[in-house]
Amino acid sequence: MIKKYVFGQPLETGAAVLEIPASTDTCSLMRLTQSEEGVSLFYRMEKEDVLYGLGEQVRGINKRGFSYISDATDDPIHTEGKHSLYGGHNFLIISRRHKPSFGIFIDNPGKTVFDAGESKLDELRIQTGCDCVIYTVEGESLKEIAKQFRELIGQSYIAPKWAFGYQQSRWGYESADDVREAVSGHHGHGIPLDAVYLDIDYMERYKDFTVDKEKFPDFPEFVSEMKERGVHLVPIIDAGVKIEEGYPVYEEGVRENYFCKDENGNDFVAAVWPGKSLLPDMLNSKAREWFGSKYKWLMDQGIDGFWNDMNEPAIFYSEVHLKKVMDEVISMKDENMGLHEFFHLKGLVEGLSNNPEDYRRFYHNMDGVKIRHDKVHNLYGCYMTKAAGEAFDKIAPDKRTLLFSRSSYIGMHRYGGIWTGDNASWWNHLLLSIQQMPSLNLCGILYAGSDIGGFGCDATQDLLMRWLEFGIFTPLMRNHAAAGTRPQEVYQFENIPDFRNIIRIRYGLLPYIYSEYMKAVFDHEMYFRPLAFDYPFDAHAPYVEDQLLAGESIMIAPVYRQNASGRYVYLPEEMMMVRMKSLEEKHCEVLKAGHHYVDIALNETVFFVKKNHMLPLAVLDDDIRNISGIDKNRYEWVGFAEDKAEYVLYDDDGMSKNYTPKEQWTKVTRSVNELDVTV
Ligand code: NOJ
Repeated sequence: MIKKYVFGQPLETGAAVLEIPASTDTCSLMRLTQSEEGVSLFYRMEKEDVLYGLGEQVRGINKRGFSYISDATDDPIHTEGKHSLYGGHNFLIISRRHKPSFGIFIDNPGKTVFDAGESKLDELRIQTGCDCVIYTVEGESLKEIAKQFRELIGQSYIAPKWAFGYQQSRWGYESADDVREAVSGHHGHGIPLDAVYLDIDYMERYKDFTVDKEKFPDFPEFVSEMKERGVHLVPIIDAGVKIEEGYPVYEEGVRENYFCKDENGNDFVAAVWPGKSLLPDMLNSKAREWFGSKYKWLMDQGIDGFWNDMNEPAIFYSEVHLKKVMDEVISMKDENMGLHEFFHLKGLVEGLSNNPEDYRRFYHNMDGVKIRHDKVHNLYGCYMTKAAGEAFDKIAPDKRTLLFSRSSYIGMHRYGGIWTGDNASWWNHLLLSIQQMPSLNLCGILYAGSDIGGFGCDATQDLLMRWLEFGIFTPLMRNHAAAGTRPQEVYQFENIPDFRNIIRIRYGLLPYIYSEYMKAVFDHEMYFRPLAFDYPFDAHAPYVEDQLLAGESIMIAPVYRQNASGRYVYLPEEMMMVRMKSLEEKHCEVLKAGHHYVDIALNETVFFVKKNHMLPLAVLDDDIRNISGIDKNRYEWVGFAEDKAEYVLYDDDGMSKNYTPKEQWTKVTRSVNELDVTV
């Protein structure tokens, strides 16, 4: 049951798609109060209560014990003390042991603070800064609550099937030849690859919807050359539009008043990669339509996938603020600065970027309503992605186009996925990415993944290998690294055959991953789930922070510690452990319910099949290059059954929107002796 509480005159964010009449009763689940400061929610937690949700925020799967602030930022240092990352994912489930659990969604596009027991361990306090809509979701189980919420916010985005293949990215592929080299590097070692990303290097002076003709001559020809080699190119699109006379995107936008304005109605000038830039008013429907239409230029050249970046929106500095800071710095005496003077100077310079005051310096024209940016801050990236998604429906209505974004708000999951931004090559960021996945799924974001190997810092061979062993289960499986870091393509390291084996395991698992992803979309389910979602009566499951259910048949328990030669695994029921050194080299063993220490060598992928479940594994040719090489008639079935197991396999052409109707999903049954690997 979903209830809707409306406080004041909130802005319509578009997050919810179901029409629900506003409740007039007093909410019995939490205390909701309204004051001049906004809306406050209070709930006293029992010792056993667990909090699930909040999308990509840092810390564990159970969000208890820290404060989180939905206030999209481009801060790239995701340490556990950070309260905000790139998104506004205001959905939480309060899982209770002795009373029915419930969910709560705060539909507020401005800042929302969740004190989830940081100030007081047993108090959950949520505070918005303005009018908003609050939804409560009651259901019989965690899964039921999650499903109802997902129905409320609408069906998740469906990526083309090739976007489930292995993808390589790097900020620093500066020319077509760099990209060719990356493709040859993979193919030369027999490593399948479905896409290579173009970061800002492909643009002419970092201008959106341009291609640097010197470094990427004859772009359409290059795009088709790559397609012939089985590789899709996925260019980045940034939010800021460079101010440059003669640049049509800038000139058109100015002429039509499509950019955000300052208080006096002048275009608000903020700097990003291209220097001084303007921010398209993504909250204005005309501006949105215009910005979306620009993607066509690249699509006409054969591009069929994009990633939207810097859309919090990131601001290196604003023109007004920079002037103030420069004036102050120039007036400072530079001799013998003491503690206060030095730190003041440091603060002034560091405070230039993503400054909260800048977010109060510009305005949107929300189709006739002037609104200060900070009040709708978390919607910007979401609406940039909506601009692109809606445009694709017009430009290529029958085709799926890959789209994901850095910043997001609930509702954006209908238009695209996300990647979790600028993590680092740190072991604890591998754990963070494991923990972010189910929380993102709860908020509707199914097409998700982290920068495998880590974006910042130098990846080591063992970290990359362990990360890939987790990454083979994430719908978006992309290796991405920052400019200036050590080359991170798998073939740059030793033991390339091991990397090849791991990536081939992904392709073997792909029919299952795709099938589970699509079923999760159509049935409003979560692809990744915390253990307690499937084992609600298990006393230990709610506290397992480093294992996930991936689709209906398997549980994963990735290794995420440096030098570890294995790990403890908790099994809520008897399961079959599948240990793979390669797709062709499997070893299976049934483990009883309970705690186990499992040895997992660096080059081994391990997962656990639930009882009476099975999954398809594609049998691959040795020279498979991308997903098109997966033969639908050559699956083996891996399962753990007492008698027989059943699996519903979803499949389709992977490109069009002619999805397979439910009646035609293939039900496969195998008895114990028909399973290729059984016990
Ligand atoms: C920030 C993004 O998070 C990162 O992935 C990208 O490489 C850089 N911008 C450069 O475009």
